[in-house]
Amino acid sequence: MKFKSYSEKDTEKIGEMLARKIKRGEIIRMYGDLGAGKTAFTRGLVRGLGYNGRVTSPTFTVVNEYEASIPVFHFDAYRLSGEEELYDIGFEDYLNRNGVCVIEWSEIVDAILPSDSIKVTIKHGTDVNTRDIEILGVEEL
Ligand SMILES: Nc1ncnc2c1ncn2[C@@H]1O[C@H](COP(=O)(O)OP(=O)(O)OP(=O)(O)O)[C@@H](O)[C@H]1O
Ligand SMILES: [Mg+2]
Repeated sequence: MKFKSYSEKDTEKIGEMLARKIKRGEIIRMYGDLGAGKTAFTRGLVRGLGYNGRVTSPTFTVVNEYEASIPVFHFDAYRLSGEEELYDIGFEDYLNRNGVCVIEWSEIVDAILPSDSIKVTIKHGTDVNTRDIEILGVEEL
C-alpha cells in the first residue's frame, strides 16, 4: 500500500491507521533516511493504540516503552553496530512480552528479524514536507 504525506500530521495519521490492523507479537520494520518521519509515524501508531503521553525518539535510549492497549517497544537501531548489540540490550525479552516491536533503522538489525514482519518505508518527496510512504505486510488500511 502506498500513501502520500504532506505534513508531519499526515504521517502521524497514517501511523494511526496502521494501529487498527496491529496485533500482539507483530514486528514493524521502519526504513527511511534521517528526518524521513519514522518517529512521527511511530508516534501516530502509539497514539492509535491508545497511549496519550509524549512519544519521542529512542535515539539515545535505544528503546522506549509505551503502555498502550498493546505494549509498544519502540527501538532505534541507528547507534547500534549490528544485530549482536540488539541481543545485548535484551531484544529477545522484549519479543517474549507479547507486544508490538517497532524498529527504526531496521536495516542494521534485519538479519535477526522474522521475514514476515510488516515493513514501512518513508521517502522524502519533491517538496520539503512531502513523503512517500509504503506499507507492506498488512491488508488494506
Ligand atoms: N510529511 C512529513 N512527514 C513526517 N515528517 C515531516 C513531514 N514533513 C516535514 N516533516 C519533518 O521531518 C522531521 C521528521 O522527523 P522524525 O524524527 O520523525 O524522522 P526520523 O525518520 O525518525 O529520523 P531519524 O532517522 O533521525 O530518527 C520532523 O522535523 C518533521 O516535522
Ligand atoms: Mg527517528
